[in-house]
Amino acid sequence: MMTPVDLRSDTVTRPTAAMRAAMAAALVGDDVFGEDPTVAALEARAAALAGHEAGLFVPSGTMGNQIAFLAHTRPGDEVVVGVGAHSANSEGGGAAALAGVQCVVAGTDGHFGVDELARVVRGDDPSGHEPPTSLVMVENTHNRAGGVVLPSEKMNEIAGFCRSRSLRLHLDGARLFNAAVAAGEPVAAWAGVADSVSLCLSKGLGAPVGSVLCGSRAFVKRGHRFRKMLGGGMRQAGILAAAGLYALDHHVERLADDHRRARRLAEGLARLPGVRLDLARVQTNIVIFGLESLSPAAFCAAVADEVRVLPFGIGVRAVLHLEIGDEDVERALAAFARVLQR
Ligand SMILES: Cc1ncc(COP(=O)(O)O)c(C=O)c1O
Repeated sequence: MMTPVDLRSDTVTRPTAAMRAAMAAALVGDDVFGEDPTVAALEARAAALAGHEAGLFVPSGTMGNQIAFLAHTRPGDEVVVGVGAHSANSEGGGAAALAGVQCVVAGTDGHFGVDELARVVRGDDPSGHEPPTSLVMVENTHNRAGGVVLPSEKMNEIAGFCRSRSLRLHLDGARLFNAAVAAGEPVAAWAGVADSVSLCLSKGLGAPVGSVLCGSRAFVKRGHRFRKMLGGGMRQAGILAAAGLYALDHHVERLADDHRRARRLAEGLARLPGVRLDLARVQTNIVIFGLESLSPAAFCAAVADEVRVLPFGIGVRAVLHLEIGDEDVERALAAFARVLQR
């Protein structure tokens, strides 16, 4: 039997032989002593791409976001996020447990505009009843919204609003490279106007581990302390950073292939009976679709021998990535058709 086409996530990719060779050749040192040249190179490279002064290599996107909560807020503050934000919904309640903040939602579909943001940001309450808003978090692309891109003009407007209200702005850029490739703009178009950004190397870019949290030198210095506190100080981490550098060199432009294949998958799916899918929302490598007659879990189970997809909210999510070729997309569509046309 053929191996099922694995569309569960862009995190399932394994390092390629060339990436492994780069990892094996990496110069390393003890990064807790600040002595790993490859980590330093990755941090500098990511910071330059993001338009920031400094970077901090962290083991995961979750740690990047959690350090941002810790570094930008004080316990009791309120943080504004979009509907379904990973930072507030999929990080184990860390915002509350670690930073001691509560999250409030702006907008209705993941992203939000300045008007929606203004509605939930709190003013100065001299009586002390209301928690002060101190941080806004934007996710781009937005995972639960189906990989949609927040245009850079909108990001600029949000940044301007945050500056005018003395709010910090963090960008969860777990898939910011997808947004940049889809929009044909540099990642700095979004990252550079935020106070901090977390860029993941282990999603579409195909590295096995790691994210880089970028911001001002002062922010990264503060973040460095929290990384240690959370257990994220790694020793000869250059072996992992080398994979990240390799990914930045070789796996960014090819994201366009994932986007093209996501489009093909979505268009094929939209033609199948009982599929609800908004093609306008298929902008990068994620396809989320609803089903009229099967529950997402039943559908995922029915196709599991041939295609691996996950129930995601009220629908099913399929994610295109480095290990998926054109023929895999056709195989997946054929399997979906067999189940839906039964
Ligand atoms: C938008 C977003 N942010 C953050 C993360 C967390 O990344 P990690 O799994 O590396 O902790 C994810 C993971 O999928 C994500 O989709």
